[in-house]
Amino acid sequence: MPTLKIDEKEITVEKGTTIIRAAEKLGISIPYYCWHPGLSIAGNCRMCLVEVEKMPKPQISCHIQCQDGMVVHTQTETVKKLRQHVLEFLLVNHPLDCPVCDQAGECWLQDYYMKHGLYESRLDENKVKKSAKAVPIGPTIMLDSERCILCSRCVRFSDEITKTGEFGIFNRGDHSEIGIYPDRELNNKYSGNEADICPVGALTDRDFRFKCRVWYLKKTDSVCPGCARGCNITIEANLERPQHGSGERVMRLKPRFNDDVNDWWMCDAGRYGYKFIDHDRIMEPAYRKDGQLKTLDWNEAVAGFLTIFRAMTAQSKEKIAVLLSPQMTNEELYLAKRLFVAELGIKKVLLVGTNPDGDQDELLIRSDKHPNRKGAEYLGLIEEKSSVIKVLNEAEKGDLKALLVFGQDLVSLYPDQKVDHLLQQLSLSAFIGSNHNFTSEQAQWIFPAATYAEKDGTCTNFEGRVQRIQKALPPLGEPKPESEILMLLAERLGFHWPYQSQEEIFNELSRSAPQFKGLTYQKIGKEGIKV
Ligand code: SF4
Ligand code: FES
Repeated sequence: MPTLKIDEKEITVEKGTTIIRAAEKLGISIPYYCWHPGLSIAGNCRMCLVEVEKMPKPQISCHIQCQDGMVVHTQTETVKKLRQHVLEFLLVNHPLDCPVCDQAGECWLQDYYMKHGLYESRLDENKVKKSAKAVPIGPTIMLDSERCILCSRCVRFSDEITKTGEFGIFNRGDHSEIGIYPDRELNNKYSGNEADICPVGALTDRDFRFKCRVWYLKKTDSVCPGCARGCNITIEANLERPQHGSGERVMRLKPRFNDDVNDWWMCDAGRYGYKFIDHDRIMEPAYRKDGQLKTLDWNEAVAGFLTIFRAMTAQSKEKIAVLLSPQMTNEELYLAKRLFVAELGIKKVLLVGTNPDGDQDELLIRSDKHPNRKGAEYLGLIEEKSSVIKVLNEAEKGDLKALLVFGQDLVSLYPDQKVDHLLQQLSLSAFIGSNHNFTSEQAQWIFPAATYAEKDGTCTNFEGRVQRIQKALPPLGEPKPESEILMLLAERLGFHWPYQSQEEIFNELSRSAPQFKGLTYQKIGKEGIKV
């Protein structure tokens, strides 16, 4: 293990560690463009130059490995001058379109110029490069090759990570230009990451372009609910001007580094699958009678629903079924089990969701499109289609009186079971969920629920990693998180639950379910913990 000094600070690192990595560990930041910790080393931008004693020339710190006794300087006058020169060369033909560039605010050229540049240009900048601007190169990404600094990150991502090889650098010398191979399109399942890794405004995200200046974004750490992987993400929302344009609040999702789950990446399905948060929402509680929907406030809705439900639980518990969803958090599933099974003694409390038969690959995407099936399993809820079909057959025969559905669309999951007709003929049917679907269109009682971006809680991914989701924005309209709906029902049914927060629910859950034993929100932390 070599021991070296960087800017007078001593550090011992694993053999093979590069200088840039060792400096990072010491809290010393060396600027870089082409280096990316998830990609191979290209060493072409020269922004990371440092001086190493006994070496005749400055060295690129992204490539040089630490040696015992090495003495490195990252802040000498020579290093500072070299950074200025690199920036001067990079900017010589860079278009002056910062005011209309959507990368502004997160452009590494802008940032480094202010931090390491601020030179008086010695060149006659006639901006010889003239390429087509704003060229769509696939469904997700726009290319503006004039702005490219030829760092080759995009090329390496498509060669090494997706192995789809769409990008290349064409021509030679100062005619070199980034592009897509002829007759190709950037349409792989991870294409959105190309905009994340491009340090400048050459590759921008078509979904996000010009929707919002990045300095308006409020960023919240969370977990993608798109599949059982649970990629770590940040939810980036514009809460200052939510009614601007489309009225959308969530502007984009970005991957958040977690080397145990998703590294630096996320798939396009997860990245662009956030629209349901601000669209097609169930906004208020409602009651449907004779095909007519009447909106109610929460008090009226809960009181009306419970009048019928209470009578049924007193007389015929075996004729009630509750269908829970692997989209629900651990805390929500725990409370649902506590209320319906432990407090009310209802036996037919089942998990329902599509079986794992979707798209899957070697990188991140899991066939199971639910974020918390494993958590449900740890809480004793395993999906059995035959049990659900049995319940639906009972409803058909008139042996079931009440059906409560959380989130899932039974009508599309069980197309052969005539669920839409059943929901109307039951004495009581209710849908608790965030968005309209065929089931919510037929249920008698509708309770609007918060989306994952509007609540706190935990989910357990397919590998048994418990991870936290966090509230990024308030619910749109009148929805409540399912846990609050369950607590409201419990309170009105006369059960006095003590919970003041999701954390308190989790603490109780961790005492009762062995897989979660000893866990706390603090132990789960930002990266999650495998149980
Ligand atoms: Fe680098 Fe962006 Fe140019 Fe690709 S498009 S080489 S990521 S600057
Ligand atoms: Fe080292 Fe580009 S970051 S040469």
